[in-house]
Amino acid sequence: MPGDRSVSNVLRNMLQHGDLSFRDFMEVALYHPELGYYSRSESPVGRNADYVTSPMISPVFVDSLGGLISEFLSRAGDAVCSVVDIGCGDGSLIHSLYAAAAPSFREKARFYGVDRSLDRVLPGEGVAFARQLDAVPRGEVQLVISNELFDALPFARLVMRDEHLHELWIAERDAGFDWVEHEAEPRYDDYFAERDIDLRDGQFADVSLEWEATYDDVCRFVSRGLIVTFDYGHPERQLFHGSARRFGTAAAYSRQRVSRDLLANPGEQDLTAHINFSDLQRAGERRGLETLFFDRQAKFLLALGAGSHHLLAPLDDLQVSSVVEALQLREQREDARRLVLPDGIGEDIRVLVQGRGMGQGGWGFQRKLF
Ligand SMILES: C[S@@+](CC[C@H](N)C(=O)[O-])C[C@H]1O[C@@H](n2cnc3c(N)ncnc32)[C@H](O)[C@@H]1O
Repeated sequence: MPGDRSVSNVLRNMLQHGDLSFRDFMEVALYHPELGYYSRSESPVGRNADYVTSPMISPVFVDSLGGLISEFLSRAGDAVCSVVDIGCGDGSLIHSLYAAAAPSFREKARFYGVDRSLDRVLPGEGVAFARQLDAVPRGEVQLVISNELFDALPFARLVMRDEHLHELWIAERDAGFDWVEHEAEPRYDDYFAERDIDLRDGQFADVSLEWEATYDDVCRFVSRGLIVTFDYGHPERQLFHGSARRFGTAAAYSRQRVSRDLLANPGEQDLTAHINFSDLQRAGERRGLETLFFDRQAKFLLALGAGSHHLLAPLDDLQVSSVVEALQLREQREDARRLVLPDGIGEDIRVLVQGRGMGQGGWGFQRKLF
């Protein structure tokens, strides 16, 4: 309906004044303050929602990360610590990490969730929430975790045509939305030139200039501590590979299904692209942080001891007293395996850990597995 308050109508009104870049379309679709996908009060993350993330798949994730927090707090000694989950969504991960922390650690650490939208945050004790990182007290040492924050930042869709970089914009057509190509803004030409990356003719690439800027904010927050980033992404040579990723990585998620129709139902589906981990790594190193780990999530969790969780223990070691219990256990075991097996989320998500002033070696996540 033309007068309805909906993301589509907001976008249509904006398009009266001219085409919109996909980046700005995505900003409105996901983050319009009242109507955007991430501004709604119901969480899009969950088994009955649009997509699932690692903390929700299995308690093995929280358990392993809990081990890292204990190690971190032990190394911090008597210092007052801030443990922050940025892009925390409904806050379930940071609530669970607080709940799993030993009482002595709860006394010396403060737990915080940060998200652009706080309307979905679940109630619970012991965790404070803020919309921006700079509103969080830093304490003396900081541990900043994020899970799938960077892949939710608005990005530009770019395509190479006859040695000229074009950017995909949106126009209104027949009351719907359609793609149009404009010459790319010079900052995107600069992005590839600075990285010495040549896209092939007809190759698409999805780039957010906010990956680096947002990570830089996190680096400035950490005076002494660790930044642990879980996300879908690759180093730049792989991310912008001419044949492996000729069509870019942009995708839409709705009801556990992936689609390439990024313009359908704005505000009703998630939009995401794989991130350039090299941008984050360089930004951290420029700010004086050391890279302590960069690899697949499966390796990270296994090094932290995920393999000893009872859900990943050999079947013979498990006791069940009924068929129902056995069936539930089988499901939980399959979920746990998704986090660490080579064909699941454990393979697709990468983890970058950078640190400052906490020691470069001897961390649990750096343990050699074989
Ligand atoms: C893909 S969701 C991940 C949610 C949660 N970490 C999880 O694993 O379920 C991305 C979240 O990042 C938040 N977000 C996006 N940009 C942000 C920013 N600049 N600062 C803080 N949160 C942000 C969104 O509101 C959304 O809740």
